[in-house]
Amino acid sequence: MPAFGEQTSAAEVLRPHAEDAFAAELAALAARDDRPRPARWKLSPWAVATYLLGGTLPDGTVITPKYVGPRRLVEVAVTTLATDRALLLLGVPGTAKTWVSEHLAAAVSGDSTLLVQGTAGTPEEAIRYGWDYAQLLAHGPSRDALVPSPVMRAMTEGTTVRVEELTRIPADVQDTLITILSEKTLPIPELGQEVQAVRGFNLIATANDRDRGVNDLSSALRRRFNTVVLPLPASPEAEVDIVTRRVDQIGRSLDLPSAPDGTDEIRRVVTVFRELRDGLTSDGRTKVKSPSGTLSTAEAISVVTGGLALSAHFGDGVLRAGDVAAGVLGAVVRDPGTDRVVWQEYLETVVRERDGWQDFYRACREVSA
Ligand SMILES: Nc1ncnc2c1ncn2[C@@H]1O[C@H](COP(=O)(O)OP(=O)(O)OP(=O)(O)O)[C@@H](O)[C@H]1O
Ligand SMILES: [Mg+2]
Repeated sequence: MPAFGEQTSAAEVLRPHAEDAFAAELAALAARDDRPRPARWKLSPWAVATYLLGGTLPDGTVITPKYVGPRRLVEVAVTTLATDRALLLLGVPGTAKTWVSEHLAAAVSGDSTLLVQGTAGTPEEAIRYGWDYAQLLAHGPSRDALVPSPVMRAMTEGTTVRVEELTRIPADVQDTLITILSEKTLPIPELGQEVQAVRGFNLIATANDRDRGVNDLSSALRRRFNTVVLPLPASPEAEVDIVTRRVDQIGRSLDLPSAPDGTDEIRRVVTVFRELRDGLTSDGRTKVKSPSGTLSTAEAISVVTGGLALSAHFGDGVLRAGDVAAGVLGAVVRDPGTDRVVWQEYLETVVRERDGWQDFYRACREVSA
């Protein structure tokens, strides 16, 4: 999408789009990729999967992993986009649904910006088209007065469009997608015309399976999608790896000095989150109560990023227990009543007794008081 007004350099942008942030990797993949590409795809399905999962090309170019998780899921997701079915990424909060959809669109179409954000107030125009009222009043309905939606643009350009939080969109508005996904056309009755999707068009939707209403996705619409469920990280090691990578990337984009070694603190945050999420300590011996929040990997990433900023600006530059304690407390205690009780109990029965965790216990006590 072209920038509005005078554009600052890509390096100045607070959060570059995936296709800009990883332009060099995408170009390297495109140059080495000699496998067949579906119509209007920038890369072959194999190269798209490599972009997401990471790897080393024959000439030594390193592709960083964007998504850490089961390879097969990524392969199914990419393959779906090459068929006539749309892709639905489903999962609990913070399982990288939005992240994966952005990177898929960037790798497949070279453009991740065609996006409809689903909310309870998303109108039909956001999925079909709207009108430029000045034009409409002056000249009546015409091609010039029509304002295409991101979906319509993807249909005419043969690219990927993303719909975030599909299940939050009111049912009748969701159903607008049925004709688009099954007939691949978008009628414009006002003009007596239609838009026919060209090859390369597809749609990636994300939905949170904690949201109420996920089952309200009409069966007619659901049949148009292949669903891929993104899981929580399978092991603590995988989760520590994800958090470490993302914190490093985010830290660099915020110009935070890179911490010498934050792995110990990251491991502790991940352990606490997993134990509270699972309702069981990692040795499987002690049951603990779960708080009301989700304590996702995404939240662990922001707790650690916040801790790094604290240690950089107010500490000695080394990530310590005191830098993450307040963040952990904030993530765990969402409901000041019940969650606080859950947290205190966990702190006193698990954290306090754990070997080598005394500094963490003290830091948590200090902020919990
Ligand atoms: N398996 C994973 N691999 C790589 N990054 C991950 C993984 N899980 C979570 N993340 C990171 O978590 C962050 C949040 O992910 P994202 O916003 O895409 O989650 P989401 O599933 O869309 O959540 P929500 O349901 O709240 O919208 C991203 O920065 C992403 O990099
Ligand atoms: Mg999301």
